[in-house]
Amino acid sequence: MSNLQIKSFEEYQQKYAKSVQDPEGFWAEIAEHFQWKRKWDQVLEWNFEEPKIEWFKGATLNITENALDRHLADRGDKVALIWEPNDPKEKNITYTYSELHSAVCQFANALKARGIVKGDRVCIYMPMIPELTIAVLACARIGAIHSVIFAGFSASAVADRVNDAQAKMIITADGLNRGTKQIPLKRVIDEALEMCNSIESVIVHNCLGWTPSMTDQRDFWWHECILNESTACQAEEMNAEDMLFILYTSGSTGKPKGVVHTCGGYMVYTAYTFQNVFQYEENDIYWCTADIGWITGHSYIVYGPLLSGATTVMFEGIPTYPDPGRFWQIIDKHGVNQFLTAPTAIRSLMAFGEEHVLSYSLDSLKVLGTVGEPINEEAWKWYYLHVGKERCSITDNWWQTETGGIMISGLGNISPMKPSYAGYPIPGIQPVLLDQKGKEITDNEMEGYLCIKFPWPSILRTTWGDHERCKLTYFSHYKGYYFTGDAAKRDENGMYRLLGRVDDVINVSGHRFGTAEIENAINTNSNVIESAVVGYPHPVKGQSIYAFVVLDKPSDDIENSRGEIVESVVAQIGKIALPEKIQFVTGLPKTRSGKIMRRILRKVAEGDTSNLGDTSTLLDPLVVEEIVANAL
Ligand code: PRX
Repeated sequence: MSNLQIKSFEEYQQKYAKSVQDPEGFWAEIAEHFQWKRKWDQVLEWNFEEPKIEWFKGATLNITENALDRHLADRGDKVALIWEPNDPKEKNITYTYSELHSAVCQFANALKARGIVKGDRVCIYMPMIPELTIAVLACARIGAIHSVIFAGFSASAVADRVNDAQAKMIITADGLNRGTKQIPLKRVIDEALEMCNSIESVIVHNCLGWTPSMTDQRDFWWHECILNESTACQAEEMNAEDMLFILYTSGSTGKPKGVVHTCGGYMVYTAYTFQNVFQYEENDIYWCTADIGWITGHSYIVYGPLLSGATTVMFEGIPTYPDPGRFWQIIDKHGVNQFLTAPTAIRSLMAFGEEHVLSYSLDSLKVLGTVGEPINEEAWKWYYLHVGKERCSITDNWWQTETGGIMISGLGNISPMKPSYAGYPIPGIQPVLLDQKGKEITDNEMEGYLCIKFPWPSILRTTWGDHERCKLTYFSHYKGYYFTGDAAKRDENGMYRLLGRVDDVINVSGHRFGTAEIENAINTNSNVIESAVVGYPHPVKGQSIYAFVVLDKPSDDIENSRGEIVESVVAQIGKIALPEKIQFVTGLPKTRSGKIMRRILRKVAEGDTSNLGDTSTLLDPLVVEEIVANAL
């Protein structure tokens, strides 16, 4: 579709070699394909010590001009967005590039009318409806920094993010549809706002026709805000390194951190990877099932596809409503050519049996993607056989919120595939495996800590309001490297297989949680003395959460005590972070210096208690016996 696209594996190898020999020349050539208001003075300035990373320094642009205006001449009437509703009986909605452009400009003007200016933070807490995409792009249009909060988070989690970002506005909806359920969103925002002081206004989209409470002078209806606004809005001129968005993500410490991405590098990298990984061609229909509340939705529903002039599908619902054939029905309905989903979704649909997929032709499919967590061989093969009918290539995309775009992955049908291997690095990405001592492992057929040794355009620049935290989390473990938190194995041909996190991050159904974050939520319960949370393998979700909890006043009514813990987690984070197992214990295994021995708890959670290793250094070895005896 564009000359950014690599067309063969040989070309990939040449491009890769060039990207390592001359990274600046390589990215400058790619950046030439975009519309800049002013060209850069310098392609890259960086050091991983501070860290300080600047791409396309001195350049100015607006990402929405690249995602919308630039396409109007040739693709004005091309469909940019297909919105598929939760209920298949409801009509889908499409926006052409020209319609999307008008809608974004109009809402951008509405934001300005409410006093939003360049640099202000705007939080977005919305259903998967077109207005979410419009809100994101409208912020980018006027240089406001968007921070999308996944609509499954609780009021308290919303308040944490709003307060950290010191956001001036929230954009939300009355509620959302999810399968047979309808979930109130505005009510959550009202509750959150009792804990916030920076919000000046709330814009509410009327999605379900409800009449939520509206606070005078603070809350405004979306449809009223846009009523008299023009559909033209001049795009704010942004420096390449101005912030585009903040996205909160969990790490190994308690509070989620605001990962910051900037305008120029993020634009170049998401478009480049979109076009190459999915091998999108001009009239293809592309669908990513992620939620825009997570990075995958930002980069591969909104920015990557629209920057490439693609047609992107956005789905409001869930894979199992009204039946487990819903994904496949949507693929046939819209003639989807590239489909990207998560291993959890594949595994959960596998469990319903092949009959739900076999009744659809799926003839249009060319490339299948999997993202967000390691995919096991069985799920990979099921996807390949029953969805791809052995015709489609599978690309396994490894990356992170912090990397902004896909880092290690096959490229459509041009790269070799190997089940459960993400494959080779994208051009410009220099992965290394480090050993325990931080030394690079150069041999193949080896495992190690996955680090990246050279910056790429969409690497995070900082963590909002706390640069030191960014340095400590990603650039201090191994000096001179970006540390991913993942372990990986390299095979004899140099392909990478991801082995999971080596820090205290748990990946449940592709959603990231820090153990400390969940422990903090559990500990808000006044009857809890302390708790320890670990992840353990789960056949559908990849990992699940196991909590060991010490109560102040243990009760015989275990179910009631569990219910209270569940309530605390739902209130602090949301249902998505619920521990699958909660075991009440009289104490946690600790070293004499007070450190919790998670290794032991992990083994218990995995059901592997045959060899717990050396427990002699524990403060109270008897605690372990009790934990093992009562393990769930
Ligand atoms: O452990 C890796 C896992 O998800 C983490 C990043 O999570 P998040 O920032 O939420 O981004 C998810 C969407 C990219 C990584 O550190 N992960 C992501 N993709 C894969 C993966 N693990 C194995 N294979 C993947 N394809």
